[in-house]
Amino acid sequence: MQKENLRCIACNREYPSDEILYSCPKCGNLLEVILDLSQMDTKQLRKVFDSRPLSVWRYRELLPKIRMKSPISMNEGGTPLHRCSRLGEKIGAKRLYIKFDGMNPTGSFKDRGMTVGVSKAVDLKVKSVVCASTGNTSASLAAYSSLAGLKCIVMIPSGMIALGKLSQAMIHGATVFAVKGNFDDALDLVMKSSRELGLYVLNSVNPFRSEGQKTAAFEICDQLGCAPDSLVIPVGNGGNNAAYWKGFSEFKDLGLSKSSPRIFGIQAEGAAPIARAFAKKANKIEPVKNPSTVATAIKIGNPANWLKTMNAIRSSKGTSIAVPDGEIISAQKMVAQMEGLFIEPAAAASIAGLIRLLDMGEVDKREKIVCVATGHGLKDPDAAIRVSEKPIEIEPSMKSLRAALRN
Ligand code: F0G
Repeated sequence: MQKENLRCIACNREYPSDEILYSCPKCGNLLEVILDLSQMDTKQLRKVFDSRPLSVWRYRELLPKIRMKSPISMNEGGTPLHRCSRLGEKIGAKRLYIKFDGMNPTGSFKDRGMTVGVSKAVDLKVKSVVCASTGNTSASLAAYSSLAGLKCIVMIPSGMIALGKLSQAMIHGATVFAVKGNFDDALDLVMKSSRELGLYVLNSVNPFRSEGQKTAAFEICDQLGCAPDSLVIPVGNGGNNAAYWKGFSEFKDLGLSKSSPRIFGIQAEGAAPIARAFAKKANKIEPVKNPSTVATAIKIGNPANWLKTMNAIRSSKGTSIAVPDGEIISAQKMVAQMEGLFIEPAAAASIAGLIRLLDMGEVDKREKIVCVATGHGLKDPDAAIRVSEKPIEIEPSMKSLRAALRN
C-alpha cells in the first residue's frame, strides 16, 4: 500500500492521513497531503489515465485513497480549455486559453475539491460538515453533502453573497447561517465550531480539498499536450493557486510533463493582502480589515492559505498583483462578448490581471497562457445586469421594432 501522510507546510512534521487535522499541532501551520511518487511507473500511469475520460477521478492514482467502493461524485472536472483567438488578438496574447472551471456540476471549481473532501468525510465516518463561504464553497458543499447524506451547515457573510450561490445552498437543504460580519469572521466561527462541536471543516484549510483541485493542472497539461508557460488565476482565500502548483509540480516530478508554469495570482484591489505583500517583497501578509470588491467571491481580507499561496507563487517564479473593479467588469464583458463565455466577476479577475501583466512586460505575448475562469456567470446575475444595457421595450409591431432599431 502506498504511503500517504499529512505534512506541515512550515516545519515538515508528518501525521497519519486518517487523523482529523487542519493545522500542525506543533507549530499551527497548515497541512498538505503527501503521496509517495517514487514508486510510480510513469508509462503505466500515462496508459491508465489515457484509458479514462478527462475528469477528477481519471487521476485517482495521484489522489488520496478512498476506502468506499466509489467516491461521492457527480462527474466533476473534464472542463473545457478554450482557445481564445479573438480575445487574444485584442489584448495582445498570441496563444491564450481559458480553462472554464465554471462548467463543473455546481458551476465552480469547488466541486473538484468537494468530491475528494466529502468522500474523505464519509470515510472518516463524520456525520456533519461545515464551511464558511463567499458563496461557491457553500453551494458545492451543500450539493455534495446531500448526495452523501451528510448534515451540512454553511456560514455566509450576511447579505454579501451572490444570489445564484445562496439559492444553491438553500435548495440542497443546507442549514444556512448568515453571519453578521465578513468572510473572515465566518471562517473564525467555523474553526471554533469544529473544535467545540466536532463539525468537519470543508474549507480550503482541509488538505483533501486541495488534492481534488490539483487535478485541474493535470487536465490542462493533458489538454495542451504540455504545461503552459504562464497560469493566471484569481486569489481569494489562497487555496486554489496552491493546489494548481502542487498539481503542476507532481506532473513534472513524475515526468508526465516537461515543465511547470509561472503562476500569477490576481486579487481585487479592495481585498489584496497577498498582492500587497508581493509588492512590498514582504514575507508575511497584513490582513485587510474591511475588504471590498464587486468580485464578492474573492472579497477576503485575511486569507487562511496565505503562506501556501506565497510559497506556491514564489516557487513558480510568478507574482501576485491587484486589479481594480472597473477592469474586472470590463474583462468580464470582453470574455462574454468576444468568446461567448459567461464567467463571474472573480473569474474575470484573471483576464484583467493578464492584461496588466502583458502591459508590465511580466508575461510575454508569445507565451502559452492559461487564464483560469473559476466560476460561472449565472452565479451572479445581478452583477451582470448592473453593468449591461437594459432591454429595450417595444410594441409587438414591425413599426415599433423598426423605430427602435434606428436609434
Ligand atoms: N474564484 C471563485 C469563483 C471563487 O469562488 C473563489 C473562492 C476564488 C476564485 C478564489 O479561490 O479562495 O482558493 O483562492 N471562493 C471561496 C468560497 C472563498 O467560499 O466560495 P481561493
